[in-house]
Amino acid sequence: MAEVRAGRVADLAGGQRILLDVDGREVFVFERDGRFHAFQNVCPHMGGPVGEGILMGKVEAVLGEHRETVRERFSTTEIHIVCPWHGWEFDIESGECAALRKFKLRRYEAVQRGEDVYVVG
Ligand code: FES
Repeated sequence: MAEVRAGRVADLAGGQRILLDVDGREVFVFERDGRFHAFQNVCPHMGGPVGEGILMGKVEAVLGEHRETVRERFSTTEIHIVCPWHGWEFDIESGECAALRKFKLRRYEAVQRGEDVYVVG
């Protein structure tokens, strides 16, 4: 497997994304909470540019005494990237679609070496 340099760590500050070619596939890289993530920039629904999507916490129900939904909140531990074409959401840790787990983004390993970030393809 080859490593492809994505860019400098500083280039990913503030939620920036980097697009790069990894073995003929477009891959996007981003940082979240000090960790780097890389996925192929193709949504398994209809091929949308999922790397252009926003990041947001999973919407989860807060249950009451009788297990009824009292309210909803955004998770601070399960973060999703939302495909801009039709709104499918994918867990940034696993790449799995939140609603249909059989659909997944193709994940790549992203590693920091010094001041640079590399994607292993
Ligand atoms: S192409 Fe991504 S949700 Fe439809």
